[in-house]
Amino acid sequence: MSLDDAIQKARELASKMSFDEKSQIVKGTAYDTNVWNPPPGFFVGNTAAVKHLGIPSLNLQDNGQGYRTTDVRIIGKVTAYPSTLAVAATWDRELGFTWGEALGKEFFAKGGNVLLGPGLNVHRVARNGRNVEYLSGEAGFLGAELVHGYIKGVHSQNVVTVMKHFIGNNQKTLRSFVDSIISQRALWEVYYQPFQAALEAGCLSTMCAYNLVNGIHACQNGDIMQTDLKDTMGYKGFIMSDWWALHAFSALKGLDQEMPGNKIDGNPMNQVYDTTKDLSTLPEDFLESMVARILLPVVKYGLIENPVCNPVNGGCDHQIYEVNARSPEHQQLARRMVAESVILLKNEDETLPLGKDLTIAVLGSACQPKQDITQMLDKWDLGNYYTVGGSGRVIPKDPVSILEGIQDACKFANCKVHSDLSDDAEVASKVAQEAKADVTVICGATTSTEGMDRASLSIDQESFVVEVAKKLDALDAMPTVVVTLIPGSIVMPWTSYVDAELAVFLAGEATGLGIADVLFGYVNPGAKSPVTFPLHESDTIPPCEPPKGKPMVEPTDSFPCDYTEGVMAGFTFYEDIEVQYPFGHGLSYTTFGVELEPISGTDCDARACITVQVTNTGPVPGSEVVQLYLVFPPGLGEPKRGVLRGFQKVSLLPNFSKKVVMKLLEKDVSIYDETQKKWTVPKGRFTVMIGSSSRDILAEGHFDIE
Ligand code: GLC
Repeated sequence: MSLDDAIQKARELASKMSFDEKSQIVKGTAYDTNVWNPPPGFFVGNTAAVKHLGIPSLNLQDNGQGYRTTDVRIIGKVTAYPSTLAVAATWDRELGFTWGEALGKEFFAKGGNVLLGPGLNVHRVARNGRNVEYLSGEAGFLGAELVHGYIKGVHSQNVVTVMKHFIGNNQKTLRSFVDSIISQRALWEVYYQPFQAALEAGCLSTMCAYNLVNGIHACQNGDIMQTDLKDTMGYKGFIMSDWWALHAFSALKGLDQEMPGNKIDGNPMNQVYDTTKDLSTLPEDFLESMVARILLPVVKYGLIENPVCNPVNGGCDHQIYEVNARSPEHQQLARRMVAESVILLKNEDETLPLGKDLTIAVLGSACQPKQDITQMLDKWDLGNYYTVGGSGRVIPKDPVSILEGIQDACKFANCKVHSDLSDDAEVASKVAQEAKADVTVICGATTSTEGMDRASLSIDQESFVVEVAKKLDALDAMPTVVVTLIPGSIVMPWTSYVDAELAVFLAGEATGLGIADVLFGYVNPGAKSPVTFPLHESDTIPPCEPPKGKPMVEPTDSFPCDYTEGVMAGFTFYEDIEVQYPFGHGLSYTTFGVELEPISGTDCDARACITVQVTNTGPVPGSEVVQLYLVFPPGLGEPKRGVLRGFQKVSLLPNFSKKVVMKLLEKDVSIYDETQKKWTVPKGRFTVMIGSSSRDILAEGHFDIE
């Protein structure tokens, strides 16, 4: 169905609804007063069905690593996928569709017809507790390219996607009071970029964020919702609030739906505003236009013809609590995603992949993390080394640890494993020596949660990993490999003492399987880091804090967080300093060469066509993500080491080559002019840098725009 036809149909349906029916769509239902959770049998978000019109209830459920496990009975009945940032690390557009399709299938089977994702925000604050939920990593362009597949995959299963959190949601610290002061140019060139792409991909639902943007709470902010998203970007879908993110009646500002729809007495930040009284102040046709926007994705993506259950009177109990949405295909997909997301950061003297018949020492508690499901169910925002905490949490039933993954692989690789999980460097290094290990694998990890920003960029076992790596290095006993499970960027003070290093963003149930596939070379790593790994935490942007002594209690309380870096946001923020590993970095068990052909501005249907020949110059099959960084003409205030404007993942057999063409379109060579309030194409010489990472530039070219 075309968008125009869907708009027409949605309007027709809205025109046949009573005021009461409309008010149960523009405001969430089911939550009783003074509760933080919906009654059993309901979803995280709910709206009422309109039976006489065949409009189903909207059953909204989270999101990032799969169908959110809000009840112990759901654990094990849904797939606990890797995190969204792990998918970003794959730079694999096709995987986005495959994963979205699988997610959509599981949500539909569990009665959810609205998936509260993808999280798209560009990373600004390295310690942000939810970076692991965001598809963009440190570059809006990465999210903008990967989101298309994901959106289309989920929609193909008659489930609606929700792009979030709109906009400037870059820290958890006092998230409802922080006022993100962002320039128009930074908004349009950096932060809006993945959301605009999601819109182009057909996303018709947006979740506005908790924070303020330029002085006004995002869900009350007509500048970003009406002017920028609806008017300028031409967004025809609807905007829902984040849960209790609304602090004033804002329908006339562009807020179409209030979630979850109840209030918590005595809590000024958790009130309700789309009340019958407020809604009845609206002109009838305005209220109708809000409903029509909400019905647009319902109509467009087949939710009417393919209705899920209605949770009223236990109508969804079977789907939510009994239906097993898992499948061998999805478990295999989860494992493949983990392996594709593993970033090989370092590999001296070809320490990896591990051969056969080895004796392997596996050291550190993070190799076999405990998971206390009861404790997690008691604390909604408790994460662990497999999943983020908070609304994005999907508790895996029997996650495979790194130790178990290695032990499993040893059945085929005929290796012997000696492990020590004490995190005592003295004891652990002795175990490795006494075992006469051929190689030592050291595990470290940390997690994060929606509830707060991370306390630091260190992993939980940092001192152990440094100490044991130092000891073994001093003894020159055997090669050492560090594997970290992480929720975003970390500092790595052990790096100089180890021979190889893998980084894996929170990876769900198949964590150990995917990592072992890479350690033993069954999968050749091809991931590239979507974040910068800094040398020091002080090199990164910390969360903003309020002025001392200023209480943050009322909706009118806020504190400024000035995005002074402007367009130098994300990985370009680091362009003038040394880093441990740069954005886009990731090694392979093979090697690649690239050749950049002369850049043609003429025979191509774009501003410039960049043709690159990639060759596998090494011994084994593998994939390379060839990246294009564009340097604008000088003097425009754009990053001088370039912005990400293209990438292509190429899988090749040894000695094989492939030509890839990356096109720079009008928007790729444009900058946002704040005075004229529009995009403009600057004139002058543009430099194209082709790299294996943002700092491993293999070829350079130029083109001029007159
Ligand atoms: C949470 C999150 C949002 C989630 C929603 C429903 O507070 O900010 O991402 O989708 O509420 O759980």
